[in-house]
Amino acid sequence: MSLRLGDTAPDFTAETTQGPIKFHDWIGDQWAVLFSHPRDYTPVCTTELGYVARLQGEFDKRKVKCIGLSIDPVDSHKGWMADIKETQGHEPKFPIIADPDRKVANLYGMMHPAHDEVYTVRTVFVIDPKKKIRLMITYPQTTGRNFDEILRVIDSLQLTDGYRVATPVNWKQGEDVIIVPAVTDEEAKAKFPKGWKTLKPYLRLTPQPNK
Ligand code: BEZ
Repeated sequence: MSLRLGDTAPDFTAETTQGPIKFHDWIGDQWAVLFSHPRDYTPVCTTELGYVARLQGEFDKRKVKCIGLSIDPVDSHKGWMADIKETQGHEPKFPIIADPDRKVANLYGMMHPAHDEVYTVRTVFVIDPKKKIRLMITYPQTTGRNFDEILRVIDSLQLTDGYRVATPVNWKQGEDVIIVPAVTDEEAKAKFPKGWKTLKPYLRLTPQPNK
């Protein structure tokens, strides 16, 4: 059965560039981004892994651990890291799963045979500390992902877990957020002391509460 938002992320054991892991134990009490790339030594994947490595500090700030996956073996992943450092200026410090038998890829629906029978598509799973799947995105092999967008969604998830707000279109850190319709104006007075603008009774904008 395919995975859905809110499902528990399937646990697994796997070999990675940083040794064997049991996925849930590896996540611990942090958030995780699990992302697949079709294969090693390919150009788009090289730029993606370099960019995620460059964003390491941003993921750390949000208590997010990243982990990549491809069906190639650990030795291949390790050799490729040097090319990533050379061409992208950043070497991944996060582990990359080796999944030659596609055990993890099949568990997470990363194989899309009508697109490619052999290699994974580009998937991204954001998983919270309770091991629940909070975001799933799937990209075709020929399109590199936008990891700034992944960070943006993580910011929204972490904010909206803590406050009864939702984030509007294209929202970024520091911008106004929406008071969820289930909160009455009476409750909002206590919860949002900075006040709000009512554009419609169901559309109330308030400054980001944790700023
Ligand atoms: C790439 O990462 O460059 C790539 C991988 C598979 C198909 C197309 C491009």
